[in-house]
Amino acid sequence: MKLIIDKPAERQELFLADRHKYIAFGGARGGGKSWAVRVKALLMCLRYPGIKIMIVRKTYNELESNHIKPLREMTEHIAKYTETKKQLTFCNGSQISFRACKNDSELDKFQGTEFDVLFLDEATQFSEETWNRLRACVRGVNNFPKRVYITCNPGGIGHMWVKRLFVDRVYSSMEDPNDYSFIKSRVFDNKALLAADPEYVKQLEALPPKLKKAWLDGDWDIFEGQFFDDFVIGDERAQRERRWTHVIDPFEVPRDYVIYRSFDFGYSKPFDCSWWAVDYDGRAYLILQLYGCTGNPNEGVKWSPDRIFEEIHNIETSHKWLKNKRIIGVADPSIWDASRGEAIIDSADRNFVHFDRGDNSRIAGWMQCHRRLAFDSEGRPGVQFFNTCRHAIRTLPLLQFSSVRVEDLDTTGEDHFADSFRYFCMAKPIRAIRREENELF
Ligand SMILES: Nc1ncnc2c1ncn2[C@@H]1O[C@H](COP(=O)(O)OP(=O)(O)OP(=O)(O)O)[C@@H](O)[C@H]1O
Ligand SMILES: [Mg+2]
Repeated sequence: MKLIIDKPAERQELFLADRHKYIAFGGARGGGKSWAVRVKALLMCLRYPGIKIMIVRKTYNELESNHIKPLREMTEHIAKYTETKKQLTFCNGSQISFRACKNDSELDKFQGTEFDVLFLDEATQFSEETWNRLRACVRGVNNFPKRVYITCNPGGIGHMWVKRLFVDRVYSSMEDPNDYSFIKSRVFDNKALLAADPEYVKQLEALPPKLKKAWLDGDWDIFEGQFFDDFVIGDERAQRERRWTHVIDPFEVPRDYVIYRSFDFGYSKPFDCSWWAVDYDGRAYLILQLYGCTGNPNEGVKWSPDRIFEEIHNIETSHKWLKNKRIIGVADPSIWDASRGEAIIDSADRNFVHFDRGDNSRIAGWMQCHRRLAFDSEGRPGVQFFNTCRHAIRTLPLLQFSSVRVEDLDTTGEDHFADSFRYFCMAKPIRAIRREENELF
């Protein structure tokens, strides 16, 4: 009987031949990592009769499409799959078990489990705790190799531990550097994918700059530094050359532009109330902003909720751009929380300021902000700020990436306007400028 396996690409060959204890195959999306996982698992089952292998991903759906289905097809005549046990048993006694681990709370089910080889596919989706607990399952008194293979893309909750161990190679006294090996995956190596789906690379090229660097180039350093490095304030030269930037002189807002109001409340910090006008093409303008406290926000003088909403109502009933207009309000959903006494929303209602609950999906929300900031083929962005909205312009460039949730921003920064911007963007979501991007988000 013949088992036909496609030829590995150069990097996949390195992965298949690697003999370290911990082997990471990581970087670009689509580099053929999951393929390498299933082929290596299969080859080990054939080479070591009786070996026990475990392949872990976050969900069974992902296991099914990436591993179970293709492996069952490849091993139709040499292995039997038992659905109840999620286990593929080869005629030589080798076994591959497929296990899902959604989060740390599911780790107990791995207690006492023993395997010779573990494959953790998409390891950056797992916490360091998961990594430590799962690799402890790799043990046993036999002569089979004991190894852990991981695949990974930059980003996700596991970004930091993967980067430390495999990319930066910074070790504690308990860790032996000689145990770790890293093979960088590149999408351009995956000739099979490039031939079958030539559009795939274009989709990666259309991503916002940071994600493009992460997923096309496999760059692990991008989630560091300035969060909104795509925000262009502009300078005199940009103005002279009439290049589009995100900050502009105010203009007279036409009456039929649609007006939104976004609001972020700070319990112990400043608040932000931003008014946005959306033109006929769907472009947005930040036209007015009420921010923080009376006077200097650094003084920490705070307004009571009633004082804030009274002022918002005053502005909306007197300002020429807002007076007698229907205004669509979206706010931080925490203002509906009544667990600390009266909910903030009650104060808003009392002062005739009405809101819908903002969508608080943070990562999707930041993606929308970046899409808004992106420039189209004519060089025009999807959002511009009037230069009178100084707290927006001051705080956005200061925000940094979080070191805990790497695609998120560091919430210890002054992020009230950014949150408010995010609620607005989620209330009026837009598609990516390049159509191909849509499938990825
Ligand atoms: N050596 C190969 N021969 C034939 N097809 C391959 C080979 N390597 C990968 N492929 C195919 O290329 C496609 C992408 O590969 P794969 O899913 O392994 O990439 P990945 O790096 O895991 O991607 P992602 O980052 O999205 O998880 C799949 O359809 C896979 O079957
Ligand atoms: Mg994969």
